Amino acid sequence: MVERKDVTKGNVDEGNGAVISARGLGKEFNGIWALKGVDLSLERGETLGVIGPNGAGKTTLIRVLTGQISPSSGEIHCEGKVVDPARLGFRMRIGLVPQEASFYGRLTARENLALLARLYGLAGEEAAARTDELLQWSGLLEHSRRQVRFFSRGMQQRLSLAMGLVHRPEIVFLDEPTSGLDPEARSAVWELILRLQEEGRTVFMTTHNMEEADHICTRLAILVKGEIREQGTPQRIKSLLGTDRVELRLSEERQGELEELCSSLGIYWKKEGEAYVLTGVDLPEKLPAIISRLAVGLRDMHYREVTLEDAFLRFMREVEG
Ligand SMILES: Nc1ncnc2c1ncn2[C@@H]1O[C@H](COP(=O)(O)OP(=O)(O)OP(=O)(O)O)[C@@H](O)[C@H]1O
Ligand SMILES: [Mg+2]
Repeated sequence: MVERKDVTKGNVDEGNGAVISARGLGKEFNGIWALKGVDLSLERGETLGVIGPNGAGKTTLIRVLTGQISPSSGEIHCEGKVVDPARLGFRMRIGLVPQEASFYGRLTARENLALLARLYGLAGEEAAARTDELLQWSGLLEHSRRQVRFFSRGMQQRLSLAMGLVHRPEIVFLDEPTSGLDPEARSAVWELILRLQEEGRTVFMTTHNMEEADHICTRLAILVKGEIREQGTPQRIKSLLGTDRVELRLSEERQGELEELCSSLGIYWKKEGEAYVLTGVDLPEKLPAIISRLAVGLRDMHYREVTLEDAFLRFMREVEG
């Protein structure tokens, strides 16, 4: 397991020393802005996770940053200088693992990798050596002679990752690397991403999986309707909500009183079945007041640490009003 880097960053994105940064980046499709004035920096060695609902603009952001489509406004900087990511020099420094698989199903894993290695200009022996290295890296060596269309989704995804690394890029873009994978296949992909971190690569990824965002990413950015709404370490994003969560059950006649009390104390509440779930900054300090007022009707109470999922869902509810 690698040591997690705590990049303590606030919401303001200065972009100093960033390997890549977006400045006021916008993308319009037929009159609709899929990205609106995105300011976001990728620091060397970090794993930045972009989270956000379907249609937020995550894939569009990756496509613009990797030079597959050009922005409608704004600039992309690489190490402080304006760059056109479509240029070969830049593209050789980055690797992309797109949301949709991009290998040939009728070729074997070895053939797919070797073909790509040749396309990147590696000579025969070099291409074969790199192919072997990547098959080993992705744990696919023993399956290397099977057609990829017969691979499980997890194996296909590991191959996609390997294909993004053929030219040894220093920055790797991963668009939803574990979507649709079962827990075992997902953790195999997590291991590979953690290995990229150990190798010192810089990773830019998107995900819908909050456990993944918390476990893998050193910093997160929340993208909603084309705009970055928050960014910081997973810990910081969670702390926007307070770090504690309390679940309690209460007799029916006291429930109205609990809801009023929570509102007056600035505690956020929601009902999950029979239970009330309370979250909020300074919850531990405020809780005694609740317990002393409602002790008679209180049936049970549990603590647990707030999850990134709690924070994200609550954030989305606030954004969507
Ligand atoms: N080529 C395109 N032409 C027109 N509209 C597009 C195009 N690509 C994306 N969009 C629109 O831009 C918005 C952002 O889409 P995008 O695919 O970037 O979202 P996303 O955050 O990756 O979503 P998901 O989580 O579903 O992958 C959506 O409204 C989408 O319909
Ligand atoms: Mg997408």
